[in-house]
Amino acid sequence: MSINSFVFDVPVEGCYQTKWEAPSNIALVKYWGKYGQQLPKNPSISFSLSKCFTTTEVSFSPRENGQEAFDFLFDQKKQPEFHPKIQQFLDRIIPYFPALQNHHLYISSQNSFPHSSGIASSASAMAALALCIVDFEKQFHNDWNDEAFLNKGSFLARLGSGSAARSIKGPLMVWGQSEAFSKSNDHYAIAPSVDWHTIFHDYQDTVLIVDKGQKKVSSTSGHGLMKGHPFAIQRFEQAHIHLGEFKTALTKGDVERFIDLTEAEALCLHAMMMTSNPRFVLMQPNTLAIIQKIQDFRKQTKLPICFSLDAGANVHLLYPLQERLSIMDFIQKELTTHCQKGQYIEDQVGNGAKKI
Ligand code: PMV
Repeated sequence: MSINSFVFDVPVEGCYQTKWEAPSNIALVKYWGKYGQQLPKNPSISFSLSKCFTTTEVSFSPRENGQEAFDFLFDQKKQPEFHPKIQQFLDRIIPYFPALQNHHLYISSQNSFPHSSGIASSASAMAALALCIVDFEKQFHNDWNDEAFLNKGSFLARLGSGSAARSIKGPLMVWGQSEAFSKSNDHYAIAPSVDWHTIFHDYQDTVLIVDKGQKKVSSTSGHGLMKGHPFAIQRFEQAHIHLGEFKTALTKGDVERFIDLTEAEALCLHAMMMTSNPRFVLMQPNTLAIIQKIQDFRKQTKLPICFSLDAGANVHLLYPLQERLSIMDFIQKELTTHCQKGQYIEDQVGNGAKKI
């Protein structure tokens, strides 16, 4: 695949307005470690979610002399703390869409989930913004089919936040070159044409909010810690192997293997952070208490519940829709006591971003 095929320039006149909704995602095989410009050191696979999403509306107009590149509202309010991240994103995508420099972007964004819930919003936010920009560009590409459009959306989203590359389609997205998936590559994520077992089409993800605070390690420095990490080579190899094994489990509906792989990946991500230099422990006592209770509950009831973790203390509980009643009962009786203010968010696997 040639990166040059993603470079586009055209003089544009007049105004254009568009609005996209993009979901958050939870990685099953975790992306941790990058090279070059936001390229992954190992391939990853994620469930796209459906209820945690960002909605972004962008109005593009010709940029006047001396005018700022963009205005940004979050929840209808000016939020200058987000400006550096947006500016960095625009700077990175300009080489792939030079004409964007001649436009002013009026960006208005909001999340469906509380901003300070400790849920990473960069994936959904960058994907929604990238899709608005590609939608603008699409007017000049009569030759683009849906796939070309979404590939470019994922390509640009990746430049904002690596995991955002996967917040484009659903139910599962693969990002990073892997022998297990043809067409997989490091530049953008793909929704593989694989018949995933139906049990995973509406899998549940209940996010237990253990800590609503800001991340203790920024993603950029976290990925950077894989450079020279004593276990990096083994970890990247393991991710390749896990991805192939996930493919089998997800197509066969092998929930037992799915559980085993999902928890191995979550703990391996944290093991990498705990053994880097400097090292970080992002799990909290309540994270561990929840993990222990999940494993005990699974042993006692044989119900197929497992956990995943992001680079933080919150716990994602993954389970089939058909077990929802018993598992929600367990969550409410046993787990909410370990959540900050008893908070959790109920989500489930979804089909990706959409134009509003
Ligand atoms: O997209 P980033 O740079 O914030 O990295 C995300 C990394 C993890 O969430 C920990 C794993 C993943 O694959 O989503």
